Amino acid sequence: MAQENIESTLHEDRQFPPSKAFVDTASLHAEQLEALYQRAEQDHEGFWADVARAEIDWKQPFAKTLDDSNAPHYRWFPDGKLNVSYNCLDRQLEKNADKTAIIFEGEQGDVEHISYRDLHQRVCVFANALKAQGVTKGDRVVIYMPMITEAVIAMQACARIGAIHSVVFGGFSASSLKDRIEDTGAKLVITADGGHRGGKIVELKNTTDQALDGACDTVETVIVFKRTGHDVRMNPSRDVWWTDITRDQPDTCEPEWMDAADPLFLLYTSGSTGKPKGIQHGCGGYLLNAITSMRWVFDIQDSDVFWCTADVGWITGHTYVAYGPLATGATQVIYEGVPTVPDAGRFWDVCQRHGVTIFYTAPTAIRALMKVGDDVPKGYDLSALRLLGTVGEPINPEAWMWYYNVIGGGRCPIVDTWWQTETGAHMIAPVPGVTHAKPGSCTRPLPGIDAAIVNDDGEEITKANQGGYLVIRKPWPSMIQTIWGDDQRYKDTYWPYFDGKFYLAGDSARQDVDGFYWIMGRIDDVLNVSGHRLGTMEIESALVAHPKVAEAAVVGRPHDVKGEAVFAYVVLKGERPEGGIDDEMTQELRNWVGTEIGPIAKPDDIRYSDNLPKTRSGKIMRRLLRAIAKGEEITQDTSTLENESILLQLQGKA
Ligand code: WT7
Repeated sequence: MAQENIESTLHEDRQFPPSKAFVDTASLHAEQLEALYQRAEQDHEGFWADVARAEIDWKQPFAKTLDDSNAPHYRWFPDGKLNVSYNCLDRQLEKNADKTAIIFEGEQGDVEHISYRDLHQRVCVFANALKAQGVTKGDRVVIYMPMITEAVIAMQACARIGAIHSVVFGGFSASSLKDRIEDTGAKLVITADGGHRGGKIVELKNTTDQALDGACDTVETVIVFKRTGHDVRMNPSRDVWWTDITRDQPDTCEPEWMDAADPLFLLYTSGSTGKPKGIQHGCGGYLLNAITSMRWVFDIQDSDVFWCTADVGWITGHTYVAYGPLATGATQVIYEGVPTVPDAGRFWDVCQRHGVTIFYTAPTAIRALMKVGDDVPKGYDLSALRLLGTVGEPINPEAWMWYYNVIGGGRCPIVDTWWQTETGAHMIAPVPGVTHAKPGSCTRPLPGIDAAIVNDDGEEITKANQGGYLVIRKPWPSMIQTIWGDDQRYKDTYWPYFDGKFYLAGDSARQDVDGFYWIMGRIDDVLNVSGHRLGTMEIESALVAHPKVAEAAVVGRPHDVKGEAVFAYVVLKGERPEGGIDDEMTQELRNWVGTEIGPIAKPDDIRYSDNLPKTRSGKIMRRLLRAIAKGEEITQDTSTLENESILLQLQGKA
């Protein structure tokens, strides 16, 4: 791992302090935040113990805060007992029973308001139904659902009875679903006939049938929720309808009291190579950081209407849809579909109609919506918004500014939140009433998160703007517990260096003169061009800063002189040039990048396409782009591509 000299030349000095109006109503102010940092620094475990006592209702209080006897499998609050669903639902009933927990909106426009009382009952009913199907504590349950309230009910019901859920994103193929079911050894699968997405029906039940066909012999039962009402085949010896099995179940259900370090869920995520990893999270620690981040980063308050647009198939949809908002008694919006149905105003329409005050989405969505122009959002009343958030990739300053001015009206702070499936909750993020945001920076680690940037030898890099490995040096409550069924891979992947002392995030990053963090990209996406290390994301950011560029993806391709050459795929704002070639534009962009970053970063190749290949979760498929850049045959699974036709354009064949 040679990484000593990552160069970063991205200069962004603009600062955006929160407005006085925001500060006046924010719940966390500078002095209080400083006190949290100090306390955490003086006594890391004591700090988290205090917060855990204040924020979680324990059935049995913990006496021990952290068990590190089997590190790096840390166990937080090991002798404490709790139930996550109890903390999300039951404890809201005293004050908030009639408060709206969920405002659900289907893609076709159906809207439902569900109170905490109602949600609690539905979760209890379904939890009883699961028990009646033979599910007990520790069993794995795979959830393959549309983005509807019942997906959250299913997750909460599992949490209530101590079953370990594993949600598989509804956009995944039958074979991905099969792999995940087999890895978990699930006894039961919860799905729906279908869901509405992009104006079409997603065939969830059919895909489940394909996945289970001749495989997954651990699965005894499939529960099917009727969402679309279209015809699906039911296998009488295996499949049951949600309505049938819940009809006679009581609407209360004593929660299963769990050890804090018992697993809550598994969520599969891709590694840089190999089969997906089942990231395991535990009950107490995970819940704690879901709550603290809702408070510190989202400043969640009683009157807020919170909307995180992520699907429950991703960690963001776990922490900031299924758990965090409920555990803090918030009102949240859940939307089933895509942002472009019936048109690109849908997100803003949802914000307007439901009075959304906190909006959290991904930079890729922001850029896509930016592409259609300012007139679309300007046609909606977005004045209820008070806070905006982003997650998933570095946001380029242009998209940040657009989000800030056009969506936030220049009045809403933006929280750029760095975290991962493995970290469970926000790690590096602004505290919006305090932090002076900088476009493109996720700012500073949260209290109790001991992040650092280190070199090959594990020494902290203190020099400003010098890139290195992003690591976390002390355990934190919502950390990954292990990779399901593969403790060795857990150790090898996340604790490989520095004597296993630091958690290796897999990202490179730099800190600026103010100590703010700038994520430079995945370690595996860092290019080495003539001995210079360049972050692909920085080149992309530079390209996207060009007025004619809508989106860009940069990969490396082998080069016999330079080692690696920079290969850029570019989506222009206007028409794609004839045959994908435009020498003048290419020259202009090469020079542009030369001026933005330095001649070394100039792309050697630029290929134009109508779109970039993305997974359904919006991640650019870099491995595919690298293969194309190398002129290799495509062996990747392209079944998750939103748009298969652009493959030819990327290959320069159309
Ligand atoms: C990777 C984790 C965390 C939920 C969504 C993605 C990148 C995430 C940011 C950000 C720059 C970011 C990192 C990280 N990433 N947030 N705010 N700025 N990069 O979860 O699929 O586990 O991916 O996403 O590279 O390692 P994930």
